[in-house]
Amino acid sequence: MGDTESKTTQEAVAADNTEAKRMQYCGKMMLAPMVRMGTLPTRLLALRYGADLVYGEEIVDYKILRCSRVENPVLDTVDFVMPSGLVVFRTCKEEKDRVIFQMGTADPQRAVEVAKLVENDVAGIDVNMGCPKNFSIKGGMGAALLREPDLAYDIMAALTKAVKVPVTCKIRLLPTREATMSFMKRMQSTGIAAIGLHGRLREQRPREPVQLDAMTAAIGDMHIPVIANGGSLDFKNYSEAHAWMEKTGCDSLMIARAAQNNLSVFRKEGTLPQVDVAREYMLLALQYDNAVGNTKYCLQKLLSKCLTSDLGKQVHGAHTMRQLCAAFGLTSEYETTTRQQEEAAQRFGFTLTPSDDQIDEAKGTPIEALLKEEMDKDGKSDGDGDGECGDEGARKRPKIDPHDVTIIDNAKYFRRHFKRCKTPREHLSNYTTRYNLPAAEFETHQTKDRRFVCTCRVGDSVYAPRDPSSSKKEALQSAALAALIARGVVSFSCDFEARESTLRVLDSNLEPKTTQQSATA
Ligand SMILES: Cc1cc2nc3c(=O)[nH]c(=O)nc-3n(C[C@H](O)[C@H](O)[C@H](O)COP(=O)(O)O)c2cc1C
Repeated sequence: MGDTESKTTQEAVAADNTEAKRMQYCGKMMLAPMVRMGTLPTRLLALRYGADLVYGEEIVDYKILRCSRVENPVLDTVDFVMPSGLVVFRTCKEEKDRVIFQMGTADPQRAVEVAKLVENDVAGIDVNMGCPKNFSIKGGMGAALLREPDLAYDIMAALTKAVKVPVTCKIRLLPTREATMSFMKRMQSTGIAAIGLHGRLREQRPREPVQLDAMTAAIGDMHIPVIANGGSLDFKNYSEAHAWMEKTGCDSLMIARAAQNNLSVFRKEGTLPQVDVAREYMLLALQYDNAVGNTKYCLQKLLSKCLTSDLGKQVHGAHTMRQLCAAFGLTSEYETTTRQQEEAAQRFGFTLTPSDDQIDEAKGTPIEALLKEEMDKDGKSDGDGDGECGDEGARKRPKIDPHDVTIIDNAKYFRRHFKRCKTPREHLSNYTTRYNLPAAEFETHQTKDRRFVCTCRVGDSVYAPRDPSSSKKEALQSAALAALIARGVVSFSCDFEARESTLRVLDSNLEPKTTQQSATA
């Protein structure tokens, strides 16, 4: 084959690949990403009822990058597991060709690392560009990316180059039709396979009507599939959902709240009673050893119309998988399944509970270990950190669940590097004031070797440095630094040998881009 001919063949193969990737998102009904709700049992049930693709809940890049990939022979799943043993993302063969991994990110390099970590276990990768919550926005993620088209472009372009699976993003409407179209086209030019469009503005609440006309207008002459989203208030079953999708003119539909309310919305034959859906869900949660806190949360959503029924009350009062199963009359299924799982675990010599030689690693970083100890003392940790069973009212301040803490590796403050410079706490205070956030809250803990480690809460999020400090003051500053780095407010590097730290303010709303560097003799 001559050079030109082989080039033509390669181009043809590439074109076929691109087309195949796009086809994955054409004429499809999908389960939309939903934090907490979008775990494995929900996704599998949606698929069994007829969904073509299912999105996982958004997982922030920092969090998944701390996980190891573990093949779990007991459940026949692939688990992405934190050093503490927490399963952050669990998937299995049944959904492998149909599950989309959604990440929260504000950084092309981290996005690529995440994509490479999960790409062999999923059917596609999605970037959340629609989340308007403070947690996302302040970290430069979610809907913040709609105002940073260059960064959004860099993230999507890096991803499409780096991985073989299709890459997509999920956005919201921008303030004008032109702005939405221009953003969508920019994303299209990165080579993404499709784009999800939630027909509300970043500022709009979920209860407000979706802007159908604006959606239709924005689709314009896009040549990649556009996935409509946001219509859950307007449909309750498959045929209504399909009709709504057709009104938008989009190629596919992504459903969140209507599915949360009744996962059988994907059934072409019509929806099933909530109780039947919840029972099927319970069986899957049991089979896949889903965390009890998450299972209870999902059941309460799935039973939203029967919360005052006997079943609803039993679910509300349950604290264990056994109690949840009993509420559905599934006690013998519980006994059989858990016995089989225990036997399989013994046979494979497999356990997610850390063995003795892994115990230090499994305890996680010093701050995670300390927080876990405190929760264990209270007996309030339920495995997925929702604290639903906890008696929050009895405490002055709720305990911090170690799983909720974002740990930042290089957040290490040395006082001598910051002489005559603004400290991280000063930068953080400017930041919270500028964005009208409550002042950051700090909690200091002492390790057994008498060093200090501190958490820093900003809004709903908690940050901590990986390493303890030798003084309380340095621990506080390191925690502030962790928050600033994680939220994309500053970039930071520290050269211990050279006794030098470099802190660069990235957020131009705070002050003109400044670099403060200090070196001490
Ligand atoms: C409980 C819940 C959690 C959500 N979590 C996410 C998420 O993790 N990522 C995301 O892109 N959107 C998330 N969303 C937004 C939905 O995916 C969707 O865009 C929105 O609910 C509008 O669609 P709907 O009308 O079908 O509900 C969430 C929505 C709900 C109700």
